[in-house]
Amino acid sequence: MKDKPIKNAPLSPLYSYEEGMDFNAVERVIMNRRSVRSFKKEPPPDSMIRRVLEAGRFAPSAGNAQPWRFVVVTDPELLEQIERDTQKKTRFLMKFLDYQKSAWRRWLLKPLIKFITRFMPTQLHPIPYNLMRQIAEDKAPVFHGAPAMILLLSDKRGVGTPPLDLGICGQNMVIAAHSLGLGTCWIGMITVTMKMRKWRKFFNVKYPYELSDCLILGWPKRPFDGPVEREAQVVEWFDKAGKRTEDEGREVSNLKFGDRMRIPNYFSESQVSSGQIKFDPELCTGCGVCADICPARGLVMESRAVGKKKLPRLLESAPGVSLCMTCGDCRAACPTGAIQLLRGYNTSYFYKKLSQTPELKPPRRY
Ligand SMILES: Cc1cc2nc3c(=O)[nH]c(=O)nc-3n(C[C@H](O)[C@H](O)[C@H](O)COP(=O)(O)O)c2cc1C
Ligand code: SF4
Ligand code: SF4
Repeated sequence: MKDKPIKNAPLSPLYSYEEGMDFNAVERVIMNRRSVRSFKKEPPPDSMIRRVLEAGRFAPSAGNAQPWRFVVVTDPELLEQIERDTQKKTRFLMKFLDYQKSAWRRWLLKPLIKFITRFMPTQLHPIPYNLMRQIAEDKAPVFHGAPAMILLLSDKRGVGTPPLDLGICGQNMVIAAHSLGLGTCWIGMITVTMKMRKWRKFFNVKYPYELSDCLILGWPKRPFDGPVEREAQVVEWFDKAGKRTEDEGREVSNLKFGDRMRIPNYFSESQVSSGQIKFDPELCTGCGVCADICPARGLVMESRAVGKKKLPRLLESAPGVSLCMTCGDCRAACPTGAIQLLRGYNTSYFYKKLSQTPELKPPRRY
């Protein structure tokens, strides 16, 4: 079949913007898209995956270099093998990283890891650390049983910053997929898979290509999409009248030396100030949607008494430290409005939040 040309109908009619007007279809997909972590077994048709890839292919890239390569996996056996190997590798890595298991490990490993964290603050951030611990303890899957996976490889010979191009390209795919009714989730944990020579070789990940990231996709088991509340930025404007700082007149100022030296780490549990949520047991039907979508796998469904309906409970990584990172996804997906976010993930101990408002705000129509 010959490709039909894209009609040149105006996508965004010029000069039609009015303050406070409704979100359009594209904006709605952006605001309502939630990462999906619970899929039906059957994969989406190949044609649909190709259509999603097309959205990626038409992403902007520096110098129009298009520095990407895509690998699609839908073979269930292969997907299972990757899941198993990644779990095994995570368990192995946690042998070195989890200093809490015994007194001698605390004594020996803690100073060493504290030192390494200085050089890998983002990789050894408390959030991926907690997720790796959940995976190592068999409490969380890596690829969430998705029936399809897209590996995004970047070509080092691209222009400027090829990994940035890949991020843009991947997000094009994510938005297109959700607009077509599919669910997706980025899986940064693929870096653990690619630490294994076996898989690098299998997928031919070698110069000039390197792994950028991974997307899983499939038919969501249930509807998960919905808007979340997020922190708002304190935006600085420079206009004709000079500089003004929005949002409660807070000033964005420079971090002091001591603040800059602080990095998020998982050594002192009290430093990992995490999110808090509340469930209304009257409104909750025990459907389990919230536990299915939670990225931290921080919710479990359990009945408080024999014969009673199951209710969600927020897990703690230490007394008073929940596994919640306040993504708001459980609240967005809850069909009965039984969830309330009480406190955002608070990294203020490490970074003074100079550019964000402390409270969470819903998407606003300006
Ligand atoms: C680069 C990147 C890597 C991610 N890696 C993972 C991952 O390994 N596992 C996971 O469950 N979610 C992962 N996520 C999804 C985030 O947890 C999710 O985007 C975040 O909680 C916000 O929720 P939302 O996507 O529903 O808005 C990743 C997201 C991004 C952008
Ligand atoms: S999604 Fe809502 S109704 Fe369902 S178990 Fe969670 S809190 Fe209860
Ligand atoms: S807000 Fe917290 S509990 Fe809810 S899905 Fe996100 S991480 Fe999980």
